[in-house]
Amino acid sequence: MTQTVFITGASSGLGLAMAQQFAQNGATLGLVGRRLDALEALRAQLPGTHEVYSLDVNDEALLHAAAHDFMAKHGVPDVVIAGAGISVGTLSELYEDLEQIRRVIGTNVFATTSTFHPFIIPMKNKGSGTLVGIASVAAIRGLPGAGAYCASKAAVVQYCESLRVELYGTGVKVTTILPGFIDTPMTKQNPYTMPFLMAPEDFAVKAVQAINQQVSYRVIPWQMGWVAKLMRIVPNALYDHVFSKRKRKARAGE
Ligand SMILES: NC(=O)c1ccc[n+]([C@@H]2O[C@H](COP(=O)([O-])OP(=O)(O)OC[C@H]3O[C@@H](n4cnc5c(N)ncnc54)[C@H](OP(=O)(O)O)[C@@H]3O)[C@@H](O)[C@H]2O)c1
Repeated sequence: MTQTVFITGASSGLGLAMAQQFAQNGATLGLVGRRLDALEALRAQLPGTHEVYSLDVNDEALLHAAAHDFMAKHGVPDVVIAGAGISVGTLSELYEDLEQIRRVIGTNVFATTSTFHPFIIPMKNKGSGTLVGIASVAAIRGLPGAGAYCASKAAVVQYCESLRVELYGTGVKVTTILPGFIDTPMTKQNPYTMPFLMAPEDFAVKAVQAINQQVSYRVIPWQMGWVAKLMRIVPNALYDHVFSKRKRKARAGE
């Protein structure tokens, strides 16, 4: 049977690469992002028939209307991926950055919960489906100048785990993916070295495998999984000493 996948953040980067990978495997997709031209360009190059929803994931009403439209046309999806996300440097001492902090947490966390919400009861009634949260290795330890991003991704990890346990026994699975460094527009301007940088297409192959196997938690690439394990056990004094010297991601407008 044709797999159905609803995916936010499909107009670029990881979301686009996962959309391509699922479509190559024969899936029917609901493609969500703000840029209609990018979504239409993607749809035009994909095999199969797909829906396009140009909207801001922070607009819950539009997001839910898209979810219901997709379900009316294609039934309850097999997979829902909350892939839309933003990353920007923030400094809490600067008043103007407070709004950026709200934006980052809104898009990365609240929009993840809003993306999943309309599908949960239909998936429970069907007794199957996978909800996929896109976190980050940045969830593991706080990074200087990236408080909002790290906090948002740590929230995604814990939220997805709560949801996974909440849905235990219903047939609905939750997969949390923690990408390391993937070569997308988001990481293009990063001023620091990015170990084990991975092409989005390679990421997508691994991510789609993990989703289809319904694994609960996966760091991609695997080498960053070991980095994450190591970072967890580094004592604060050493961690602070090393990471205080790390170059910071640019703030909005910098
Ligand atoms: N690249 C990495 O190394 C890396 C590492 C860890 C985690 N991640 C996570 O992976 C996800 C995708 O990142 P990426 O690297 O693929 O970045 P990207 O190339 O900048 O793509 C971000 C995607 O999110 C969508 N998006 C952002 N804000 C949105 C909004 N308000 N409403 C609707 N769509 C929105 C964008 O679409 P529009 O611009 O069309 O709205 C775009 O499709 C993010 O959650 C990111 O935090 C990435």
